[in-house]
Amino acid sequence: MIVDDILRTPGAVRDAERWTAHNYHPLPVVISSAEGAWLTDVDGKRYLDCLAGYSALNFGHRHPQLIAAAHAQLDRLTLTSRAFIHDQFADFCRELAELCGKDLVLPMNTGAEAVETGIKVARKWGYQVKGVPAGQANIVVAEGNFHGRTTTIVSFSTDEDARADFGPYTPGFTVVPYGDLDALTAAIDENTVAVLLEPIQGEQGVVVPPEGYLPGVRQVCTDRNVLFIADEIQSGLGRTGATFACDHEGVVPDMYLLGKALGGGIVPVSAVAANADVLGVLKPGQHGSTFGGNPLACAVAIEVVRLLATGEFQRRSAELGERLRAGLEGLVGKGLVAVRVRGLWAGLDIDPALMSGREACERLAARGVLAKDTHGSTIRLAPPLVITEEEIDLAVAQLAEVLAG
Ligand SMILES: Cc1ncc(COP(=O)(O)O)c(C=O)c1O
Repeated sequence: MIVDDILRTPGAVRDAERWTAHNYHPLPVVISSAEGAWLTDVDGKRYLDCLAGYSALNFGHRHPQLIAAAHAQLDRLTLTSRAFIHDQFADFCRELAELCGKDLVLPMNTGAEAVETGIKVARKWGYQVKGVPAGQANIVVAEGNFHGRTTTIVSFSTDEDARADFGPYTPGFTVVPYGDLDALTAAIDENTVAVLLEPIQGEQGVVVPPEGYLPGVRQVCTDRNVLFIADEIQSGLGRTGATFACDHEGVVPDMYLLGKALGGGIVPVSAVAANADVLGVLKPGQHGSTFGGNPLACAVAIEVVRLLATGEFQRRSAELGERLRAGLEGLVGKGLVAVRVRGLWAGLDIDPALMSGREACERLAARGVLAKDTHGSTIRLAPPLVITEEEIDLAVAQLAEVLAG
């Protein structure tokens, strides 16, 4: 008997390839259920999740508190649109604003929408508050950025795969090298309304800027009357061992862009948090979203904020991150050429002479550990923050085996 006849995975992979646009190159695993840090595929094979939905699953799969909130809300009210106010809305906005230390929250759905919202708010603030001449606003961004997939956002991507053939491009962005404060300062002119940065570049391979860079950006933004927008969509909400990656250097941006984990791995929830002098520039009719801030999203996200308010997940991430760091640093020179770790978030550069990141991820998957490559020979690890010490050791041990051939 051929294995394909008994296993469901090969057919399910073929069907997925047949019926969808090939805008992703997924690993050939077909997941059917999950709990905590573990996934089970259609053939009953179990995998340790070391990607956590690109950090959308910081609290693990099906966290009981989040699932209970979703179930309860499904039984009462799921959608109103923003034409009416619902009873989950104010609590979500207030509790998230308090977590961020900001006056106001504007809820959206996907990360890209939060970024678009941040760009629109910054431009309007520039024209109405800073006094930039009409149509002249510019925003400074960094090389290697990843802020999403809309036509405006890919306009300032430096990744040709993400950008090529999607023009004409949206003007008004100046790209500078990431981590270079002098270049960023030089790029700011009188019409600059914002600096938009990831405090750690996730898609680029968990690239941590030099110490002092983020405080320097904060200072120059303050000095030049420019908004500092921190895209914490992937880096925020506990991933790095703090609520926000900016916290590690005591930096408070003017605007937080949040997404991914805010939806608890259940619903897409994103948000912009800022003070009233910034978000207050929006008036009725100027921005919105049918699903943004819907009751189901708010009910789940309220519990996400409450989980974060305990500090437990930030603590776990910081403590377990040190174990992950120790394990991975032990592999440098044994198949890894470099590792970058912040909390439970790691970028690993595999010796390209050994194998590609994709190959390493395929071999890891065969050993029951799921991770994802990025940019050739880099792998990103971002396990759910509920992972245990033993499970971290397991992931590192399997990686060591893969690198040893
Ligand atoms: C830093 C950052 N910003 C924005 C986005 C876009 O989020 P979404 O895919 O939800 O639109 C991502 C997604 O990976 C991201 O990592």
